Amino acid sequence: MPDVFDVLSRDHAEVKRVCTELEEGRPPPSGEDGRRLRKNMVEQLIIEESKHEAVEEEYFWPTVRELVPDGDRLADHAVAQEQEAKKTLNDLRHAEAGSDRFEELLASFIAEGREHIAYEEDQVWPELRKVITQERAQDLGRKLEEGKKRAPTRPHPNTPPTPGVLKGAGAAVAMADRVLDKVTGRGRG
Ligand SMILES: [Fe+2]
Ligand SMILES: [Fe+2]
Repeated sequence: MPDVFDVLSRDHAEVKRVCTELEEGRPPPSGEDGRRLRKNMVEQLIIEESKHEAVEEEYFWPTVRELVPDGDRLADHAVAQEQEAKKTLNDLRHAEAGSDRFEELLASFIAEGREHIAYEEDQVWPELRKVITQERAQDLGRKLEEGKKRAPTRPHPNTPPTPGVLKGAGAAVAMADRVLDKVTGRGRG
């Protein structure tokens, strides 16, 4: 059964793969079709990233805070990185595909995203591995997978990054994201 590290690794690998693909696609293709394709890839990245960070906020960081000595410091740093990335992604969503600004924001996100992933994998995971039981690691993996099904698909930089976002007011936000996605066909390439 996949545990928390398996689930998060899979997400990270996917984000890194898309980032590399977007980098290799530089300079961005000219023409309407090329621009649309690139915009769609970025949109898919935003959806995956938004869901991933939302479930980390909901389940992963509270566990780190609870179990890891010094967990608060590690979680605070990572959550601050996540908030920065959300701002970048939110700006990116509203930038015009093909513009210099769009490419600059994308490059910023790729750099921030890689740094954040490295921080989690190299600084946080080893500490959590030392203290988490196999049972709890699997249970957490399950919660993350389940949570992603109802997580927001857009960055919400003004929503506080505290647990409870997938419940309470955040649930309405996530629902609105999904309704909009359905109406606009977003995330279906
Ligand atoms: Fe994260
Ligand atoms: Fe992560």
